[in-house]
Amino acid sequence: MMGKIGFSLILALSLVTVGTTSERKCDLSGLWRNELRSLMEIHEVNHAGEFSGEYLTAVTATSNCIRRSPLKGAQHDTKRRGQPTFGFTVNWEKFSNSTTVFVGQCFVDDKGKETLKTMWLLREEVGSPGDGWRATRVGTNVFTRKRNVERGKILQQHSPPCEAPTPTPTAQ
Ligand code: BTN
Repeated sequence: MMGKIGFSLILALSLVTVGTTSERKCDLSGLWRNELRSLMEIHEVNHAGEFSGEYLTAVTATSNCIRRSPLKGAQHDTKRRGQPTFGFTVNWEKFSNSTTVFVGQCFVDDKGKETLKTMWLLREEVGSPGDGWRATRVGTNVFTRKRNVERGKILQQHSPPCEAPTPTPTAQ
């Protein structure tokens, strides 16, 4: 008798847990910051899971002034998966010859806090295939959500004031 009651209780508890886990949906759109203090803003995720946004890195391997850079990616459908995987590419061409791809998963804890656990590969341009051995860096980043006031505003406020390029003198 006790065995049956105990089993039913465990079954009921696991059903409740499964239910609440699938309700904690992780939506990538919004403002995020990682442990390096880089900022990333993801615009609306469309019906196909595709998204675009902007990235303001806090660090660079170059000596150039950091500029906001466009990103594009895709995530799994949140209707089917509460903690979806995703991937995106950042094109740094506004100040660097490199490209970074990120892959990751969005996790939501039992207090509703969202965390993006990611891994990235950065490819820098090298002069020839023989220099390929030094062209790639790899690492991880963890992003947490920041409150967003107005689209584009925070990244704009945090962007360093890069000087305008000095015009090339024209021959007189
Ligand atoms: C470059 O230095 O060539 C471009 C900027 C690269 C920034 C990298 S991407 C991975 C890591 N995570 C960040 O937030 N910034 C660095």
